[in-house]
Amino acid sequence: MTNKSRKLEYTYKFLSQIIKDNKNSNIEKYINYVKSLLYYVGKVSLSTLYLKYKGINLKQFKDIVFNNSLENLPEIFFDLESVFTSNKNISDEDKALIVTNIQKLNLEELEQICLGEMYQSFITSKERKYLGQVYTPKQIVIQMINEGINVEKIINNPYFKVIDPACGGGYFLIEAYKRIKEILLDNYDKILFKKPEMKEKLDRNIDSFIIENNLWGCDIDQFAVFMTTISILLKGKPNKNTKVNIYKLDFLLEGKSNIFDLIDYDRKQKNKDLSNIKFDLVIGNPPYIGHKKIDKNYRKELQNYYQDVYSDKSDISYCFFKKGYELLQDEGVLLYITSRYFLEAPSAKGLRKFIVSNFIIEFIVDFFGKKLFKGIGISPVIIKCIKEEFQKEKTNIYRFKDIKINAKKDIKIFVEELFNHYLIQSTGLSSEGWMLMNREEKELYEKIHNMGQINLNEICYCNQGIITGCDKAFIIDEETIKKENLDRTIIKSWIKNSGVKKYKMGKVEQYIIYTDLINDLKTYPNVLNHIAPFEDKLKKRRECQKGLRKWYQLQWGRRLEIFQGPKILFPFKAEANRFTIAYEEILCSADVYIMNLKNNLYGVSLEYLLAFLNSSLCEFYFKSVAKKVGEKMYEYYPNKVMSLNMRVGKEIKTIEQKVINITKLQQKNTECIEKTKVDDNVNNDIFGTIKDEIKFIDNYFYSLYELSEKQIRLIESTILNM
Ligand SMILES: C[S@@+](CC[C@H](N)C(=O)[O-])C[C@H]1O[C@@H](n2cnc3c(N)ncnc32)[C@H](O)[C@@H]1O
Repeated sequence: MTNKSRKLEYTYKFLSQIIKDNKNSNIEKYINYVKSLLYYVGKVSLSTLYLKYKGINLKQFKDIVFNNSLENLPEIFFDLESVFTSNKNISDEDKALIVTNIQKLNLEELEQICLGEMYQSFITSKERKYLGQVYTPKQIVIQMINEGINVEKIINNPYFKVIDPACGGGYFLIEAYKRIKEILLDNYDKILFKKPEMKEKLDRNIDSFIIENNLWGCDIDQFAVFMTTISILLKGKPNKNTKVNIYKLDFLLEGKSNIFDLIDYDRKQKNKDLSNIKFDLVIGNPPYIGHKKIDKNYRKELQNYYQDVYSDKSDISYCFFKKGYELLQDEGVLLYITSRYFLEAPSAKGLRKFIVSNFIIEFIVDFFGKKLFKGIGISPVIIKCIKEEFQKEKTNIYRFKDIKINAKKDIKIFVEELFNHYLIQSTGLSSEGWMLMNREEKELYEKIHNMGQINLNEICYCNQGIITGCDKAFIIDEETIKKENLDRTIIKSWIKNSGVKKYKMGKVEQYIIYTDLINDLKTYPNVLNHIAPFEDKLKKRRECQKGLRKWYQLQWGRRLEIFQGPKILFPFKAEANRFTIAYEEILCSADVYIMNLKNNLYGVSLEYLLAFLNSSLCEFYFKSVAKKVGEKMYEYYPNKVMSLNMRVGKEIKTIEQKVINITKLQQKNTECIEKTKVDDNVNNDIFGTIKDEIKFIDNYFYSLYELSEKQIRLIESTILNM
């Protein structure tokens, strides 16, 4: 990678200073300003390049940069001129400075200008979140491009076609351009030996050749298309007739069966050459947009067209796999960096099946919870698939080690220091979820799973906690109860996710007004007074609008019984297994799940079940199939928890007693901590005993499952790093 020269570095800094000086607190206005500025920078950079190559004269140059002349500029400037009204936004003084600065750059420096990179550095994570645009770190882009485009492929086919279906700032295409140019130049003789007819094409203008024959991209966002187009046009010797294949379109829906129908439409001209194009490489970072953020009608259309991969709760990124597949040549490569959620998400079942049935999966690089994108909480995978009908026996997995690295930009995929490399059986990639474990882990997982005698679904129910629809109206504290003299018969203890710990519950500090018990609101005047200020908001809840709830009722109050008897509680998201038991009535929020025993098959008690769920063995077992959503964060999706199998030993009573003991000690420990007067030794004693009891249970399950020392070590070391 070439580093930026001092002059170019200075230009970037200088532009960012102009932006800082014009910072607007209104996000939309600010983003618009940044775009206008970049629109102008694009104009100046391109016309400077034209001037240097004597494609235009000084007068024409001045007309472009100071008098808004669009003559001599590519079509895309016409489309955007009115949108970015650059002239009004940017002062004449700033314009003059921009022109002076850019004119100082030499050809090599001009070529390095990447508007997308500037854009990313000028907008902060706040704006990025607002726009939902995340761009891939440059180092990763380069490595992916090197994986997708190799010397042999280009020598055999100089017309190798690459498409980035959601090109954003154009990083992938810019790197593809560099890579292809380097290969073409380095292997010039070899190519001409094989294909003498290439001589004239490559000699005439190699840059135009690459831009027209190798690179395709599209994006739904007009400005992304602009940035990519200009950054590409800045490469090499300009040719005003060069046709850039970057289009503004919805890759998934517009043009449906053939995106090029739409391209024809978009360009308002027929270009017959495009009608039958298939690509050799589909590469990029497709957008991830969950079902909640997608317009209902758009979702319906996706469901209709992408039935096999896109269902109820799917992410839009899943459709990019199918569309990518459709556009690929046989043996073509699809190489995406995308959120790792699809490996385990239940809503990606169709996608997993689609990939396995239609591609060879060459490798998966799993960042395993490590977040890679600035300001966005997503951990990615890079997946390389080849369009082939048969599946290879093994798939390469590169799993990120739990290592602290300072600069994410330095991540080198595949290297041993950062990634564990191993092969897995491709047949093990079932549509139920992809377990990317190594052989020992997989064997151990299977042993635990197969030795389980009872499936948790057989012995208990699992329910989600309560959704009030407006916590401010229903959740209160003791002081409010007293002050407003609220009727205690409908007030219940309330606990949230953070209050649910391993064998332990936090102190109850909040309460819920369980209004579902009310028949006639008038008989609860104080409660009415309390919730009345929220009436308008409460009436707007979907269930109220549909007439399913009275305005004062809870949105999803559940059945009270599930909170009443003894039950196990667990948080939806947690770093480790955090199950606890509650004997008394306690109600909880929707980020907590509740397990109630429905029978006592095999004599299993709630305490025994709890011991199993909190054991290290179970933690390894569950995390092997769970959805990892952060560096050390898992989703305790109830269906996944309930699909675990449990082995039942003879010592149920002993284990029960241990659990009761731990629970009591944990309670005592909390009390000790609360009454700060208790000396530390007592605390340490209690803590030590709890640890011993937990160890006892761990060992009990190890021996019940007949694990070897090696397997125990594997569990203990793995869960530490999981
Ligand atoms: C995650 S960004 C990736 C950009 C770029 N590939 C990169 O990694 O730097 C996703 C891009 O997808 C674009 N996009 C969203 N929906 C799209 C669609 N249906 N068709 C084409 N592009 C879309 C967004 O405008 C955004 O620029």
